[in-house]
Amino acid sequence: QLEYESDLVPQRRRTQNRKTEDFTEASSPAFANAPDTDPHLPANRAWGLNIIERMAKSSLGDAVVADHHVETVAQLETAISAAIDAGKVWQDLSVTTRSQVLIRIGDRLAAARSQLIEVMGSETGKTIDQADPEVSEGIDFARYYGQQCLELDNIPGATARPVELTVATPPWNFPTAIPTGSVTSALAAGSPVIFKPAPQAQRTGAVIVQAIWEALDEFGLPHDIVRFVIAEESTIGTKLVSDPRVQRVILTGGYETARLFRRLRADMPLLGETSGKNAIIVTPSGDLDLAVADVVDSAFGHAGQKCSAASLVIMVGRTAVSRRFHRQLIDAVNSLVVDYPTNPQAQMGPVVDEPGEKLARGLTKLEAGQRWNLTPQQLDNSGRLYSPGVRSGVQPGSEYHMTEYFGPILGVMAADTLKEAIDYVNAVPYGLTSGIHSLDPAEIATWSEHITAGNLYINRGITGAIVRRQPFGGWKRSAMGPGSKAGGPNYLIGLTDWHDEPLTL
Ligand code: ALA
Repeated sequence: QLEYESDLVPQRRRTQNRKTEDFTEASSPAFANAPDTDPHLPANRAWGLNIIERMAKSSLGDAVVADHHVETVAQLETAISAAIDAGKVWQDLSVTTRSQVLIRIGDRLAAARSQLIEVMGSETGKTIDQADPEVSEGIDFARYYGQQCLELDNIPGATARPVELTVATPPWNFPTAIPTGSVTSALAAGSPVIFKPAPQAQRTGAVIVQAIWEALDEFGLPHDIVRFVIAEESTIGTKLVSDPRVQRVILTGGYETARLFRRLRADMPLLGETSGKNAIIVTPSGDLDLAVADVVDSAFGHAGQKCSAASLVIMVGRTAVSRRFHRQLIDAVNSLVVDYPTNPQAQMGPVVDEPGEKLARGLTKLEAGQRWNLTPQQLDNSGRLYSPGVRSGVQPGSEYHMTEYFGPILGVMAADTLKEAIDYVNAVPYGLTSGIHSLDPAEIATWSEHITAGNLYINRGITGAIVRRQPFGGWKRSAMGPGSKAGGPNYLIGLTDWHDEPLTL
């Protein structure tokens, strides 16, 4: 076991969001994040309602999915060799051309915004308010990496060479942003890609891959540079990751999956963004109205199914202030409109599948000392639609404290001091996102200094990292691999074979 654990420790190359990433205009060409759609403008409202109308009967992506099933070892071999052959064409291009293709992928995704929102809602139940910024993030990744690849030739003292083949295995919970980020980062690093979408998000994957292929078409490049592989059999997935020609895997998923990949290929660099159990600390000095809104959004956006989601809120001090915060929090959660994304009023949608054993336990079972402030209720017969749950009295070391449930439940803990609250946050085996609501600079400084998590947010929700401004990645069991953050300046190097340049005497 220990040989894998050692991978979790090095944090030298990680940077936290304690301060703005250190970049200069000279080393980073102009980059602007894509704007989200403003739902208040009448034209945009009509646009949104039109998407919602199409959602229920959407069949976007079906044909591409049907065409790209890989069920046999021979089909897998065809996919791997086609991608590697096409990769030679990609690697022969100048870095400037590769950059232009990536920027065009961003443009094509921007043009597919409404289709992506439609298919994400139809396939995974993502509500439009969550899906729209996710498309912006996907566009950002393509454009950002499109600019970052120009930097790869300019790393002082090092040479970066493209690898032969990268596999991208993204999750279903951000079915646009994460696949786009994974595929375009590998492309930017000069590698062809096999893109294997999550089973629950194959049609969204197909819409993304079509946008990518359209951009490749503009430059007369082969589609196989990004090979779309629908592999439902785990044996095919295992064979793919085990193939020695695959030199990088970008995995966003569970910690156990990352460990499995590690066992399959101990020799292969894995860029893994794995699980999280994230907390927001609220101190009596905080802006409590803001804290309520941010906790609700972080805990229940996309029904709590984000690796970055807040699963715990830790109130500091057992005072009238914390009691007031707690009451207001319960009121706010209880007011959420829960429905499918086809209801334009929906603020929280369904979970992607009927809950497995772990989430079912999180939705139903209380442990010693806990009580429901809001009991999750099944709202229909689908097994997917639940009202949000809030439990208080979560004890340090309890199962709820330590477990990632990936669903619409929030646990409330109380701590006597900020130090105790920080200890509770750091006691979990993961370290992805973390937040504090406090207006006291000394409290914020203490918290920033001691929290063991990759992305730290002050007086803000803890989901929705913004490309380039807030590079994203975790510590401890929330990451595996070199530890460089997605959407940040160090990400691409980990996708190349790089070595120090020899000294000239
Ligand atoms: N990058 C995603 C977020 O920050 C996971 O919420």
